[in-house]
Amino acid sequence: MKEHIFNLLGTQYPLIQAPMAGVQDSKLAIAVSEAGGVGSVPCGMLSIEQIVHEIKAVDSASNKPFNLNFFCHKPEPYDPTRQNKWQKRLQPYFTELGAEIDSNDKQASRMPFSHDIADAIESFKPQLISFHFGLPSKDLMQRIKGWGGKVISSATTAGEAAWLEANGADGVIAQGLEAGGHRGMFLSMDLSTQQRMTTLLAQIIDAVTVPVIAAGGIANNSDVKAALALGASAVQVGTAYLLCTEATTSDLHRDAIKNRERSETAVTNIFSGKPARGIINRAMKEVGLMNELAPGFPHTAIEMSQLRRHSKKLGRDDFIPLWCGQNTQGCSEASASVITKQLVYGL
Ligand SMILES: Cc1cc2nc3c(=O)[nH]c(=O)nc-3n(C[C@H](O)[C@H](O)[C@H](O)COP(=O)(O)O)c2cc1C
Repeated sequence: MKEHIFNLLGTQYPLIQAPMAGVQDSKLAIAVSEAGGVGSVPCGMLSIEQIVHEIKAVDSASNKPFNLNFFCHKPEPYDPTRQNKWQKRLQPYFTELGAEIDSNDKQASRMPFSHDIADAIESFKPQLISFHFGLPSKDLMQRIKGWGGKVISSATTAGEAAWLEANGADGVIAQGLEAGGHRGMFLSMDLSTQQRMTTLLAQIIDAVTVPVIAAGGIANNSDVKAALALGASAVQVGTAYLLCTEATTSDLHRDAIKNRERSETAVTNIFSGKPARGIINRAMKEVGLMNELAPGFPHTAIEMSQLRRHSKKLGRDDFIPLWCGQNTQGCSEASASVITKQLVYGL
C-alpha cells in the first residue's frame, strides 16, 4: 500500500517545483509554496552560510511546506593529468576570448550533502529533503529521519528506484529523459538505459511501494493529469518555471528558451562532467555532447565556468550551460503563482 502523497508533501496540490540550481533561489520556492505547491530551494551550489540564509528567508516569509535539495555525489579526486588535457582542449576558446586559464582555480562549486551541512540545518528540522545522484550515507539518512524529515530522490531507471527505496527513500522521483538539467543517474552512467518519462514511470511504479513523483516534460495541466492517471502520486516540474518572474534565469538563458527555433536540447557532459540536458549551443556543437576528455564531476566545470564568465561579458551564450528540458511549451513570463495554478487547474 503506497503512503498517501499528502503525508509526504503536506500540500494542497501534488506538485513540486523542481529545484533548479543556478536559476532560482528562495523567492521562487516561497511563491510556489504560497500558491499551494511545494517550493524547492536548490542547495547543491550554495555555501553552508547561504543555505542557512535561504532557510531563514523561507521560514520568515511562509509557513507552508517546502523542499530543500542537495546533491549527494561521491566527489571524484582532482586529477591534474585529466584536467590538463581538458585545459588543452579548451585553450583555443580562451585564446579567442583573449583570456587566460586560471590553473590555480581547483574548486568547482558543487558540494555533496555532509555532516557539516546537517549540523547547520538540523535546528530548522526541514521536513522534506530531496537528493540528486542517489542518497547520502546511512548515518546522514538517520540524522534526517531523526529530526522527522522525509527524503525523496531522483531515479532514472527502475533499478535506481528500487535501490532508493531499499536505502530509506520515502518517495522516488521518476526523472524521464525529457527532463532539463542534470540526469540524477547514480548506478550506471550508460545513457542507453535512460527512458522517456511515461515508460520510466510505469516501470518504477511496478518496482517500488513508496509514492512515485513523475518528472520530465510536464508543461501544462493535461500533462499533470496524464501523469497522475498513469499512477504518479505527484509531479515535479522544472522547465515550465524557467521564465517566470521569480526565477533568476539570466537574460541570455531566457532569450535562448524564448527563441523556439533554437531551443532544441541535448544531453551533454561538457559543463560539469555528468550528463545534463540543455539547449544546444556553440560549446556543445564544437566540443561534442559527450566528450571523454571531460574530467570527473564537478571538475569539468572549473574551466567551463571561467569560459562562461568571459562569454557572458561579451553577451554571448556560447559557453553558458543553458539547462532546459525538451518541453518548453509551459514556459511563460508570468508569476510562479500563475504557472502553478495553470499546472494544477489549467487556468
Ligand atoms: C535549470 C535546471 C536546473 C536543475 N537543477 C537541479 C538541481 O539543482 N537539483 C535537482 O535535483 N534537479 C535539478 N534539475 C532537474 C529537475 O529536478 C527535474 O528533474 C526536471 O526539471 C524535470 O523536468 P522538466 O525540466 O522537463 O520539468 C534541474 C533542472 C533544470 C531545468
